[in-house]
Amino acid sequence: MINKCKLLSFDEKGDVRGHLVIIEGKKDIPFDIKRVFYIYGSDKDVIRGRHANFNSEFVLINVAGTSKVKVDDGTNQKVFNLDRPHIGIYLPKLVWKDMYDFSEDSVLLVLASEHYDANEYIRDYDEYLEVIKEYKKN
Ligand code: TYD
Repeated sequence: MINKCKLLSFDEKGDVRGHLVIIEGKKDIPFDIKRVFYIYGSDKDVIRGRHANFNSEFVLINVAGTSKVKVDDGTNQKVFNLDRPHIGIYLPKLVWKDMYDFSEDSVLLVLASEHYDANEYIRDYDEYLEVIKEYKKN
């Protein structure tokens, strides 16, 4: 499960005018993009996320600054560094995620496969462990 979380390296198009990164749904990332949001102004000691999703898949990109993402599938954990604007991490559904260690200039862009639905967020870690236990049985 944790192996489905993958670092993606997007092409950097650029010329003397600067850089350009293009991300097209179902081409550069595994899903069509239904929602975009971004997180900035989080202090270094803040931990965001702390949830898993029943349906949503995500790609996270630090378009400015840096942060870390810890993913957890109930058994294994892995930490990814987001430290370049052309690097993203793909997160499948049902992965617990923490975003932390935000630099002052961090702008964390999130592309999501679903519209927002509060009911598909699991925000309690013990509940997540139960859900993932059932999921792994099937
Ligand atoms: P939250 O999921 O806690 O943010 P993060 O994943 O960065 O920790 O979201 C913060 C608030 O914003 C919460 O009240 C739900 C709301 N929200 C939306 O209404 N739509 C969205 O697409 C997102 C991501 C959050």
